[in-house]
Amino acid sequence: MSAAQFNKPVRKAVFPVAGLGTRFLPATKAIPKELLPIVDRPLIQYAVDEAREAGIEEFIFVTGRGKTAIVEHFDTAFELEATMTGRGKSLDPLEPTRILPGNLVTVRQQVPLGLGHAIWCARAIVGDEPFAIFLPDELMHGSPGCMAQMVEAYNEVGGNLISVLEVPHEDVSSYGVIDPGAANGALTEVKGLVEKPKVEDAPSNLIVSGRYILQPEVMRLLENQSKGAGGEIQLTDSMARMIGTQPFHAVTFAGRRFDCGSKLGFVEATLALALEREDMGAEVRELASRMLAG
Ligand code: G1P
Repeated sequence: MSAAQFNKPVRKAVFPVAGLGTRFLPATKAIPKELLPIVDRPLIQYAVDEAREAGIEEFIFVTGRGKTAIVEHFDTAFELEATMTGRGKSLDPLEPTRILPGNLVTVRQQVPLGLGHAIWCARAIVGDEPFAIFLPDELMHGSPGCMAQMVEAYNEVGGNLISVLEVPHEDVSSYGVIDPGAANGALTEVKGLVEKPKVEDAPSNLIVSGRYILQPEVMRLLENQSKGAGGEIQLTDSMARMIGTQPFHAVTFAGRRFDCGSKLGFVEATLALALEREDMGAEVRELASRMLAG
């Protein structure tokens, strides 16, 4: 098993964005949860920025009904731009939404059968190349970004990589959990993977945190993956089947992670990012202190 076989550059990324967002109703009745803003950028924008920074060129969105606005966000808004230009306003705020023509592809997941199924829906576009996956609910905040850190590790060891972080032991049942092998700095060998284990069965408290670099062989395994935790086709189960056939490592992200799939995490991210902003951080701090003192 030589790493050299599994080290083609990572150019494509899959963003599963078909979820219904029921935890944020009624906000998400007509608006995809990926477009809820953290300060002034929709959640999906943070994931796309992180991908771009890591050298990703092609963006594959696995969408579903009612999710078209996500694609609109990354399209050219002719009327808006013409009107803004006419009024002498800068188009700079729109810069992050620009994706080269042809580099954004959408595929539909017609039925919600699980994360593994969502990824499998992108198989024809991914083709025979390694690819990244971003779960946009997880806002990974750091510099360099999480995927850039993973690509750096990938350039060393190749194969498959997932980002991991430690959670309190009692929380492991909500996540994919790794069975860790030898560690070397931020890199840990992955000996096993289990999706949403019972607390007493979990091999560690290191959880899979929503960023992946995978070899295309995983698509073949997803093809015949039986249902796992929650009756869903789980990506974790197919990844587990690759261990031992290809290099498999975990990267501990040096940075902060916000779980924006939960309301508390969403508020935490909003506050943390607003406090860091050069244009408003000081005012937000003052405002927050005033509110807390009152
Ligand atoms: C998914 C993955 C899980 C991972 C988690 C991170 O679970 O299946 O392995 O730990 O994302 O957010 P979900 O949150 O979709 O249940």
